[in-house]
Amino acid sequence: MKILVVGSGGREHALCWAIAASPLCDKLWCAPGNAGIAEEAECIGIAADDVDALVAFAQREAADLVVVGPEQPLVMGLVDRLAEAGIKAFGPSAVAAELEGSKGFMKDLCTKYGIPTAAYGRFTDVAAAHAFIREHGVPIVVKADGLAAGKGVTVARTLDDALNAAEDALIEEKFGAAGAEIVVEEFMEGEEVSVFALCDGKTALPLATAQDHKAAYDGDEGPNTGGMGAYSPAPAMTGALMEKVMKTIVQPTIDGMAAEGRPYRGVLFAGLMLTDEGPKLLEHNVRFGDPECQVLMMRLKSDLVPALVATVDGVLANFDLRWYDDAALTVVMAARGYPGTYEKGTVIRGVEAAGDADENVTIFHAGTKRAADGGLLASGGRVLNVTALGRNVAEAQARAYEAVDRIDWPQGFCRRDIGWRAVARETA
Ligand code: AMP
Ligand code: GLY
Repeated sequence: MKILVVGSGGREHALCWAIAASPLCDKLWCAPGNAGIAEEAECIGIAADDVDALVAFAQREAADLVVVGPEQPLVMGLVDRLAEAGIKAFGPSAVAAELEGSKGFMKDLCTKYGIPTAAYGRFTDVAAAHAFIREHGVPIVVKADGLAAGKGVTVARTLDDALNAAEDALIEEKFGAAGAEIVVEEFMEGEEVSVFALCDGKTALPLATAQDHKAAYDGDEGPNTGGMGAYSPAPAMTGALMEKVMKTIVQPTIDGMAAEGRPYRGVLFAGLMLTDEGPKLLEHNVRFGDPECQVLMMRLKSDLVPALVATVDGVLANFDLRWYDDAALTVVMAARGYPGTYEKGTVIRGVEAAGDADENVTIFHAGTKRAADGGLLASGGRVLNVTALGRNVAEAQARAYEAVDRIDWPQGFCRRDIGWRAVARETA
């Protein structure tokens, strides 16, 4: 098969790594890719949201499968356009991608189909939003309806913060069109976990569980980020709990989307809060998590390609996936300053040697490029994902940090406590 992966982050590196290992793949491209991905795939200079150019490329090269990493091109209808051109593509259609593209749509679906989630209101009018906030009190959560690159959510602990967040979105247009409507919802207390499932429109096949670390600094301090590290499995997610999540959240979502005439095909990434009243949905994403995908790919024993094809073809009902029992953990190395402003083009040394020193370690690139002399340069906020396998999370963690310490990058930083919850559970 000739396969095109769309995207340029650590998630797409992990996907390319898994796809390149498949005996079914004889040609792999990535658009636009990065310096690490270039080891696995031919990188082509097309941006991930340049739908026209991606469709034209896939047609010209007669790609057999296109795998879309990020949400933006999905919401823009890349998969629909490819399907019209007769090209198989992994990921939801534009109307199905609204599950992530509109938080209001997702919440209304939950109401209609009885999926447990926080109580909420949808608002375009700031006075109405303010009245709702005053009525419910704090803590309360204010969310831009549309895609805001992970910045659209305010967990407000004071009334002022909540009122201001509503005003920022609706009056100041802080998130542009994405914030012209907001969702205001009840604050939920608990531990967060991510659940992933391949969905073919009817059947949902659960993947392994994972836990992300959203805050920039140790101890879950500092600003919210795209994710500073992850591990799998998430011990909080027991088999019984997983069954409950599939039955009360994932399958009703798939059934509801089918009933709405928006069959969901692709990977569904449900962000959950484990509350005292049971698991509740925080949000749906219509793609793999980044960096959660990196730990899932490390633990996947089965060939990824047939699973992707079965998802697109609607034949997951009789499909099965094998996983390694080992735990996987990934540490994100980011440029100092991330998620705020940071320097680009700084030199990173010793990455290959750090990866070669331990066969349990794989280093995925999230934001790198090659200098003219072949050296490695940082080109983004999140730059490397140092990923390791181990018999348990503690061992994977030790191996990952050993590799981190071999990398020479003075302008980079990472959290030193990725996996702390799981390690504390293991030692208890
Ligand atoms: P989201 O982008 O919707 O996942 O929100 C970003 C983060 O805000 C989540 O990962 C949670 O940590 C937090 N969050 C979102 N909604 C709620 C809620 N209703 N209650 C508590 N925390 C929330
Ligand atoms: N790591 C969280 C996300 O991909 O949205």
